[in-house]
Amino acid sequence: MPSPIYLDYNGTTPHDPEVIEAMRPFLESEFGNPSSTHWYGIKPKRAVEKAREQVAELLGCSSGEIIFTSGGTESNNHAIKGMAGSLKKKDGHIITCAIEHPAVLEVCKYLEGCGFKITCLPVDSFGLVDASDVEKSIRADTILITIMHANNEVGTIQPISEIAQIASKHGVTMHTDAAQSIGKIPTDVKELGVNMLSIAGHKLYAPKGIGALYIKKPLKPEIFCHGAGQ
Ligand SMILES: Cc1ncc(COP(=O)(O)O)c(C=O)c1O
Repeated sequence: MPSPIYLDYNGTTPHDPEVIEAMRPFLESEFGNPSSTHWYGIKPKRAVEKAREQVAELLGCSSGEIIFTSGGTESNNHAIKGMAGSLKKKDGHIITCAIEHPAVLEVCKYLEGCGFKITCLPVDSFGLVDASDVEKSIRADTILITIMHANNEVGTIQPISEIAQIASKHGVTMHTDAAQSIGKIPTDVKELGVNMLSIAGHKLYAPKGIGALYIKKPLKPEIFCHGAGQ
């Protein structure tokens, strides 16, 4: 019986053979901890830094603005909870939209339970957020706008650079979840004008369990995972 045709690349992609080859040494002989200062740590450390530079090149930022995560969910949690946590009082306002992935909507719901105020904007029949709605929703206590770049169900591409310009005009931090747009359409962070951007490796031929978050310098969302600095 022929195998079924796989059409769920928005769900996840297979591993690209080039990715497997690039990773093979680190799954076999180069198993050292990149944070180790001894011989076994050297090559893995170089590989992590090279990967960081490659991600930075893809996003048009500096490698020091990239942190690695376990995927899109962790990147979104880090960005949104990190911004909320960097405020010392728990009454900030966050703007998002109704068709975000649960990795954004559920984080906002959690923060609402902690005392933050959430505005969840509607979308039109094409799934588009109206940038003027975003501007009208900004208040004196707005700390973050988090609107996805491309939608995971219907593929709508949001007017992120327009929304980011509005955010910047009002001094509000702008995050976008680019898990579905990375590798498909341009995601240059300077052109988009965002302060934070989440990506998920397994949507573009990497193994599961790898993601990244761009954090524009000098922004410092609160540390999300306490412990070792790596
Ligand atoms: C738009 C969007 N954001 C976030 C995620 C979550 O990414 P991950 O599975 O890497 O945690 C997904 C995955 O389906 C997604 O489509």
